Order: sequence, then C-alpha cells, then structure tokens
Amino acid sequence: MKRIAIFASGNGSNAENIIRYFRRHNDTCAEVVLVVSNNPEAKVVQRGKALGVDTAVMSRQEINDPGKILPLLQNHAVDFIVLAGFLLMVPAFLIARFNQRIINIHPSLLPRFGGKGMFGSHVHRAVVEAGASETGITIHHVSEKYDEGQIIFQASTPLSPADTPADVERKVHELERLHFPRIIAEAISR
Ligand code: GRF
Repeated sequence: MKRIAIFASGNGSNAENIIRYFRRHNDTCAEVVLVVSNNPEAKVVQRGKALGVDTAVMSRQEINDPGKILPLLQNHAVDFIVLAGFLLMVPAFLIARFNQRIINIHPSLLPRFGGKGMFGSHVHRAVVEAGASETGITIHHVSEKYDEGQIIFQASTPLSPADTPADVERKVHELERLHFPRIIAEAISR
C-alpha cells in the first residue's frame, strides 16, 4: 500500500475527493494517510479530521525546516505527496527527497496562466480577461521552478464569452473532480 500525504492551504474539495476515491478504490493500492496545511483556518483541516485522516497544521517556517517536516512524513511512512491548492513553495530538500513523487494540480492549461501570483481566483479572472475560448487543468510533477515541472496530464473545457470567473472556476473544479484522483493513482503505480 502506497501512502499519500496531501498538502493544501484552502477549501480542500480536491483533498476530500482524493481521500474518498482511494477509500472506494482499494484496488489502487494507495491511501491518504496525512493532510498537511499551513493554514489553521483552512476548511481542508476540518475535512481531513471529519474523514478520520491525520491532520497537521504547520507554519511556513516549520514546512521549510527539515527537522520538522521530514520526521512528520517519516512517522506516517509517506511515499508520495499531492499538492491540492497548496499556496507555499515546496522546499528544495523535500523535492530532492521525494524526487518525481510530488505532484501538483494547476487550474489552467499550463504554460498559459501559470507562474507567480497565478493561483485560485486570480487564474480564472485572468482567463476571462484574456477572452480565452477554453481553459482546463494541468497535473504536473513538482520541480524547483514554479509550475514548470513535467506535465503528466491536461484536460480542457470550452468557455463561452458570457462565462464569469465563477463559471470558469466551476468548470475547472468539475474537471479536477473527474480526473485528479485517477491521475494520482496512475502516477503512483508507475
Ligand atoms: C484548485 O482549483 C486547484 O487546481 C488549485 O487550487 C484549487 C483548490 O481547490 N491549485 P480546493 O481547495 O481543492 O477546493
């Protein structure tokens, strides 16, 4: 059984969907054993607890401290890290330790609408302002360069000129709900 830690900073709808997926599909040989958040107020913390998953809140300093984060991951025997709306940079020592075993989801078709400052609603607003005819999701390995790791999977959805940022967000969340857990399962079993 491969053991997944999810890092998240916000609402956690993806985290919940992933936890439930691996419980339903016990043939995928993976389970979520830990949720890590840098934000004590984040809904993802409540969701993790409600689902009976060990949940840790750590400050940015603690996440950047090998003496704090590595023992936590080791105590949970974590094999694989999934970033699901995690707003901090992953420290280089963690990327090196979990080489090719950290994946992120970005709510656009990278390289479009990626990079610094492009997270959450900023992305969807930029997509609408650019008059894009489609958007989507990108699931990628995490490298030391923001949003530039090797792409594993993309899915797109058409947009209409009338779509607001909230509409775009809804469409993107639907793609995330449909694809993210399955792509994690494939990436883990590779
Ligand atoms: C998702 O849109 C994800 O692509 C992005 O942050 C959002 C997190 O949503 N990285 P949630 O917290 O999982 O609801």
